[in-house]
Amino acid sequence: MNATPTAATANIGVVGLAVMGSNLARNLASREGNTVAVYNRTWAKTETLITEHPEAGFVASKTIEEFVASLEKPRAALIMVQAGAGTDAVIDELSALFEEGDIIIDGGNALFTDTIRREKAAREKGLNFVGTGISGGEEGALNGPSIMPGGSAEAYEKLGPIFASIAAVAEGEPCVTHVGTDGAGHFVKMIHNGIEYADMQLIAEAYDLIRQGTGAAPAEIADIFAEWNKGELESYLIEITAEVLRQTDAETGKPLVDVILDQAGSKGTGVWTVQNALDLGIPVSGIAEAVFARALSSKPAQRAAASSLPGPAEPWTVDDKATFVEDVRRALYASKIVAYSQGFDAIIAGAEKYGWDIKKGEIAKIWRGGCIIRAQFLNRITDAYNDDPELVALLTAPYFRAAIEGAQESWRQVVAHAAKAGIPSPAFSSSLAYYDGIRAPRLPAALVQGQRDFFGAHTYQRVDKEGTFHTLWSGDRTEIESAGSSH
Ligand SMILES: NC(=O)c1ccc[n+]([C@@H]2O[C@H](COP(=O)([O-])OP(=O)(O)OC[C@H]3O[C@@H](n4cnc5c(N)ncnc54)[C@H](OP(=O)(O)O)[C@@H]3O)[C@@H](O)[C@H]2O)c1
Repeated sequence: MNATPTAATANIGVVGLAVMGSNLARNLASREGNTVAVYNRTWAKTETLITEHPEAGFVASKTIEEFVASLEKPRAALIMVQAGAGTDAVIDELSALFEEGDIIIDGGNALFTDTIRREKAAREKGLNFVGTGISGGEEGALNGPSIMPGGSAEAYEKLGPIFASIAAVAEGEPCVTHVGTDGAGHFVKMIHNGIEYADMQLIAEAYDLIRQGTGAAPAEIADIFAEWNKGELESYLIEITAEVLRQTDAETGKPLVDVILDQAGSKGTGVWTVQNALDLGIPVSGIAEAVFARALSSKPAQRAAASSLPGPAEPWTVDDKATFVEDVRRALYASKIVAYSQGFDAIIAGAEKYGWDIKKGEIAKIWRGGCIIRAQFLNRITDAYNDDPELVALLTAPYFRAAIEGAQESWRQVVAHAAKAGIPSPAFSSSLAYYDGIRAPRLPAALVQGQRDFFGAHTYQRVDKEGTFHTLWSGDRTEIESAGSSH
């Protein structure tokens, strides 16, 4: 520990020592070969960290100037401060002191378009800017997160080994890859979070259907999830769902899930995913339904006003409980495949729009450890993209096609049951609707095109010949060929 460093001794620095920054700094310091410089705007946080963790050998600074002086060249500083204005303030401070070739890393949850802007500004000053998605929360930051860096290949040359040293390890491989240039890392992290929303909502719907359909208590459903975690659904989220459902509230003796207010919060990355997917024209309906379900849950006044609205006349019970539980498991797996397929569609569209060369199989690989959506299932996605890098839709890959084939009858049963029983299952049912839509040989979009041509002369194309056409709806209703486009 050295409070007033004079020599450049650290190969990496961390700015921002709240929970994420402190844990990442400790993780970095614990790995062979790293000497970690630390700085926080308010000295008290730095002091606490270096006092509580003398073993880390941190090189601590009271001023940003000392911090910069403590870094070996090319300097590399990881910013872990409040996203938005806080990040811009620290970037400005570092940019004023850094020299050509130095590297500023933003490990916060930045919107990828901000990262594109910041990278461009840094590049114009000769600096490297690496927007990096870091997933896994506090625990992941300390013990091994999944790391999604963007930025230049040159910067990744220095950072790759450092990131690899602190990342989670899945089946012997560190959960980090150079995602692509400028905002690619934060874009992929955003989609990861969107998929996480869908995964969580689908699991919540499965729980609700089992509980309402079979009357099983939360602890019994915990056993069902623990069992599911041994099969194709094996994942961190299924594992923690069992833990949450098993928990008893110390104060009331009730299942904890029954005393938690049923209004789900969010920090915004799910909303960003949906907003950007809308801009890209990609239907991420599973993710969108998950975001909307949280929004609906958080409208107590509307829910109270609507609570007296009529539901189904007949009460609903399941005859064969074991069969129903298995149907729900299969419906969950099929819906999950749809959510991931949609998420990867958004990654493909984003890569195309922003000019990133994103290796889809590598992305699935680095999500296998450290992050919230970690799961065995991700290996199947990597396999699918390795077998066919140009795969147009993930759910058409042989493994997923077969999985859905085995699940679809159950999926339809469960969605039909839910509708009849009046149990909200927006993510299950919208995923099935997406599946049926994408596989349909013919869609009623033809009628929509006819309507658009009727009221707005938007024109249409025909299935039997080239060209763009318009019917003279307010005239004699003959068809004319039009010079415009039908889209
Ligand atoms: N928490 C998580 O699970 C998680 C997971 C992944 C990513 N992230 C992202 O990681 C980043 C850090 O998260 P966090 O929860 O550790 O901290 P945070 O509560 O988001 O931010 C607090 C830190 O930001 C610093 N800060 C704020 N404004 C500043 C400014 N204008 N100039 C300099 N420093 C400023 C604070 O310094 P002072 O001590 O001086 O106030 C403090 O170190 C965020 O972008 C967050 O979204 C968080």
